[in-house]
Amino acid sequence: MSANRPAAVVVLAAGEGTRMKSKTPKVLHEISGRSLVGHVVTAARELDPEHLVVVVGHAADQVRGHLTERYAGTRTAFQAEQNGTGHAVRIALDELGQSVSGTVVVVCGDTPLLSGETLTELAATHAGDGNAVTVLTAEVPDSTGYGRIVRDAGTGAVTAIVEHKDATDGQRAIREINSGVFAFDGQLLADALGKVRTDNSQGEEYLTDVLGILREAGHRVGACVAGDHREILGINNRVQLAEARRLLNIRLLERAMMAGVTVVDPASVLVDATVTFEPDAIIHPGTQLLGLTRLAEGAEVGPNTRLRDTVVGPGARVDNTVADSAEIGEGASVGPFAYLRPGTRLGKKAKAGTYVEMKNASVGEGTKVPHLSYVGDATIGDFTNIGAASVFVNYDGEAKHHTTIGSHCKTGSDNMFVAPVTVGDGAYTAAGSVITKDVPAGSLAVARGQQRNIEGWVARKRPGSAAAQAAAAATDKASGEN
Ligand code: UD1
Ligand code: CA
Repeated sequence: MSANRPAAVVVLAAGEGTRMKSKTPKVLHEISGRSLVGHVVTAARELDPEHLVVVVGHAADQVRGHLTERYAGTRTAFQAEQNGTGHAVRIALDELGQSVSGTVVVVCGDTPLLSGETLTELAATHAGDGNAVTVLTAEVPDSTGYGRIVRDAGTGAVTAIVEHKDATDGQRAIREINSGVFAFDGQLLADALGKVRTDNSQGEEYLTDVLGILREAGHRVGACVAGDHREILGINNRVQLAEARRLLNIRLLERAMMAGVTVVDPASVLVDATVTFEPDAIIHPGTQLLGLTRLAEGAEVGPNTRLRDTVVGPGARVDNTVADSAEIGEGASVGPFAYLRPGTRLGKKAKAGTYVEMKNASVGEGTKVPHLSYVGDATIGDFTNIGAASVFVNYDGEAKHHTTIGSHCKTGSDNMFVAPVTVGDGAYTAAGSVITKDVPAGSLAVARGQQRNIEGWVARKRPGSAAAQAAAAATDKASGEN
């Protein structure tokens, strides 16, 4: 992998991105679970560079903070004024301390679709051809706004990059464009940057001018044409942000499908780049898989399900569910209409059924919570059944308390477990009980009012009502039958 290991990758991310119309700096906008600059840093890391430097400027503290928190090991260089891409790279090289020998790769912080494979190919072409600089180019349907690649009519060699604003009409017709991604010889780059001028329409130091400078000094200038021009799509506004998300999402789902995952309707499924799958997982329509979610072999998820940082075990079934930081065991069943909150752990073949909410709850093997229940701050053993409409009463208004229920218990419907409380192994509880005291193993707990029937109450209190007539008819009928 590190055969063409670069000395450094420089990520340009100092620009403001005004067209995003946002308080958030452009490179911190997110698609598919990573910031734009995060995608670029992730791709850059596949090159295993000795140094990774991000040039920050606009909202520098915010961008720096994000990188420190999420992408440890990246360095930043501060560009106070955005005087051009050449100026930005000069500042990055200063940060590295001048003497960078070896390859320096430059990428933009707003191209989230750029893949590690393409960067690797660029580095390989650069090394293989012995170039002083190699530019990643692409043929695009509409080259408006991009720097054009000018080639020698005879040899086809790249002679210069001309910015749209500085181009002639003839040059503007060129559809091969500069992606903004380059591999340079570090030493030659540093020398050439010292010679870049600012006599262009934007009064900036253009990194692209380095090509012409190196060529005129007799060095080899090469190009590597990207196979898919969409990879170099730069994000300038929110329409492009959505388009990049769509393209990245399809790429991620196609990768999953080629690895053996069934995606019933890719257009309605969203996945983050950090989600992992095993073969024979099945994803139904309307599903979002986020963060560090993992689907094991044969796990079946959806429809209409959102999982964040959730592990779904082999063969488990998750239907119409929202889950966050949950662990769903092998063969377990969740939903339809379940909500699993952080700290939920469902054992093998366990069940969290319909209208069931769980939080910080450990549910043992084969244990079922089938209907209409809240299980918060609890430990439940194996092969226990929790009756419908039970509530684990964990909050006394000030603190949260824990409930422990053993294995092979059968708790009745409509129970309140007022924590802290413990129900022993093999115990039963009666329907409608409010359990406030520990239940010893093997006991039946009954904690509810005794039933009292006041006979003839309707005839006395509601005379002549439909209820009284129905009751009278039933009494007559019963006496007639006697
Ligand atoms: C640049 C290229 C152009 C190419 C296009 C690809 C130059 C002169 N032009 O044009 O040939 O087709 O990218 O998208 O390089 N940045 C800084 N500091 C600066 C200026 C820019 O960090 O002083 C960063 C920006 O944040 C951005 C990247 O560099 O991430 C590119 O800058 P931008 O102004 O968007 O360049 P373009 O005009 O698009
Ligand atoms: Ca741009």
